[in-house]
Amino acid sequence: MKDKMGHSFLLSILFLEGIGCVHITYFHVPDQAIRGDNLTLVCEFDLGQNKLYSVTWTKGTHDFYTFKYLPSGQPTKGVFHLPGINVDEKSSTDSTVVLKNLQVSATGLIECAVTAEHTFVTDSRKQYLAVLDIPSEPPILHSYYSSQNYRMGEKISLKCDTPPSFPAANITWFINSQKVAPQLVTHDPIRKLHRGPDTLERSSSLLKFVVQEKHFENGKITIICEATIKNRYKETAEYLAYKEGFIQRMFSSSARIPSLEWLLLLHLYTFYVFMQPLL
Ligand SMILES: *[C@@H]1O[C@H](CO)[C@@H](O)[C@H](O)[C@H]1NC(C)=O
Ligand SMILES: *[C@@H]1O[C@H](CO)[C@@H](O)[C@H](O)[C@H]1NC(C)=O
Repeated sequence: MKDKMGHSFLLSILFLEGIGCVHITYFHVPDQAIRGDNLTLVCEFDLGQNKLYSVTWTKGTHDFYTFKYLPSGQPTKGVFHLPGINVDEKSSTDSTVVLKNLQVSATGLIECAVTAEHTFVTDSRKQYLAVLDIPSEPPILHSYYSSQNYRMGEKISLKCDTPPSFPAANITWFINSQKVAPQLVTHDPIRKLHRGPDTLERSSSLLKFVVQEKHFENGKITIICEATIKNRYKETAEYLAYKEGFIQRMFSSSARIPSLEWLLLLHLYTFYVFMQPLL
């Protein structure tokens, strides 16, 4: 009983001395960055009556930057190498850490912890940072048939592959700008490939459907594969399927029926050329 009381007495004393005042007032770590970016992460704090002991930045369970006061009162900076994270020590301070040339492997839970001297009361904040690798190329569409002409009842079979990125791109299919029903689509498992310290990903998706009259708009079906990565990348690849015989019929009919105006002009010209010498 006595112990308990002594404990709470001690706690209230500490509280009165401003223990509760160690808190982070502004924290900024973006949720997304692009490979190669330089970032300034911010962790501003208010210590009340306390003095700063340390500011520690971690990714997962590993420190990458610390700002500490030694017993002598001298501030020291510590930089610890983690894959994908290059700290610019000179530009980093007690409340900021500057990262140069960010890599995909820097992706993870970033935390800033501020600790007060003597009491070691700590406040911390975290944010998951995703470092994206955005490709510059569009996705690629392959057809399993060499001909682009289709009869009713025939199957259209298309494959869409996205270029390497991180994370893997999402694929959405459209037929004549209508989003395709999921039962016509098979998403292959994501393939991983290594580039330097980074692991990039490629997605691939298969669209299969039986051609019906309703699919054709002016004798043609427009199929689009759209690849997106968050709100940073949106590229498409297009495939056109034609109703068999449609193109041929279009050409032959326009050749058979020239417009009336042209026929009239032709008659006038013939009349002029052949009759002129006689006039
Ligand atoms: C990052 O900083 C370096 C110089 O420190 C500069 O060369 C590079 O262009 C910067 N990168 C970006 C994406 O701004
Ligand atoms: C893919 O789509 C899912 C569901 O909408 C979303 O949660 C995820 O962030 C998307 N991935 C990318 C890389 O855009």
